[in-house]
Amino acid sequence: MKTMNWFEWIQFSKSNRIFLLADDFFQNDPLLKEIKVDQSIFISAKIAKSLSTVEYVWNQLLENQFTKHDFLVGVGGGSITDLTTFIAGTYKRGIPHILVPTTLLAATDAAIGGKGGIDFGNFKNAVGVIKSPEFLVIYPHFFEQLGIEETTFGWAEVAKHALIGSFDLYKELSANKFQNVEFLVSKSVEFKNSVVSEDLYEQGRRKILNFGHTLGHALESYQLESNSPYSHGKCVVLGMLKELEIMHKIGSISHYQKDDITQWLHHLFPLENLPNTPWLEVLPYVKNDKKNEGNLIGFVEFCGVGKVEPEMKLSLQTVKELLS
Ligand SMILES: NC(=O)c1ccc[n+]([C@@H]2O[C@H](COP(=O)([O-])OP(=O)(O)OC[C@H]3O[C@@H](n4cnc5c(N)ncnc54)[C@H](O)[C@@H]3O)[C@@H](O)[C@H]2O)c1
Repeated sequence: MKTMNWFEWIQFSKSNRIFLLADDFFQNDPLLKEIKVDQSIFISAKIAKSLSTVEYVWNQLLENQFTKHDFLVGVGGGSITDLTTFIAGTYKRGIPHILVPTTLLAATDAAIGGKGGIDFGNFKNAVGVIKSPEFLVIYPHFFEQLGIEETTFGWAEVAKHALIGSFDLYKELSANKFQNVEFLVSKSVEFKNSVVSEDLYEQGRRKILNFGHTLGHALESYQLESNSPYSHGKCVVLGMLKELEIMHKIGSISHYQKDDITQWLHHLFPLENLPNTPWLEVLPYVKNDKKNEGNLIGFVEFCGVGKVEPEMKLSLQTVKELLS
């Protein structure tokens, strides 16, 4: 996967046939008018990852005779980039695609690594593909319109990348927090890309990207069902903090390391006014985690900054005791 800047992308669009899938937030955005497109659909992020949307887009591609020589382009947050990747992987058994992520979460995580998918039944990302985009277009101007929650907690995956292996990101966040947007995004793309390129199908090393996500995903489902949804980023930060406690209790990190990294995360993210998480109530949602095997719950073992093991299994009973 290569990256393009905005200017290169505008030039590219002029000499290729483009089918644009964009978040309807940008329907009247003058920036999108700079791109030369042959066909476009604007979609609400809320319904992007559904089978009916996929069918609609497949139909439009067929009716307008798009072929493997054309490009499917997704402009939006993770909902649109996931949808675009899914369509690109399935239409005509795969057509080239380009992603233009417009949220921090999508630019630093969702749009990198080739995972695309839709929700089905009551399950998130139940059906999906792995297909890397031809190009990633990073244009930080998009992030200026994000709300406060998406701006603050949109950096969660960057903090995770810093903790699991990117020293550049760790140093930068420690010194300047989130000031250098372009540096943080480009280093994050570079880091995730390097992990994924070693293990596209998540058989080994790629699993380290799940740090904080065993408890983070469970918390996301719990909050959603409790009618007080938390953003993905906020759940990942809270998940990392709780998993650090677990790592300390099982002896993977010292008391000092746990306190040090906990303080670091509190320095980066505004967590002080959040209610305490009832982790024992969240526990049932951990059972659905993709890393589990039978009654064993899968975690990434965190042994210190930059020192992680992709797989560690704990019994449900042990996790219950550790969360108490
Ligand atoms: N494929 C992966 O590896 C991966 C990883 C993490 C998350 N995801 C997926 O990403 C999705 C969430 O993505 P997201 O957090 O980017 O949110 P999103 O795409 O659902 O968008 C959230 C909201 O932000 C709006 N928005 C988008 N760009 C904006 C901008 N620049 N300014 C203002 N508003 C903007 C959208 O219209 C929407 O209302 C989930 O479906 C999740 O499953 C995928």
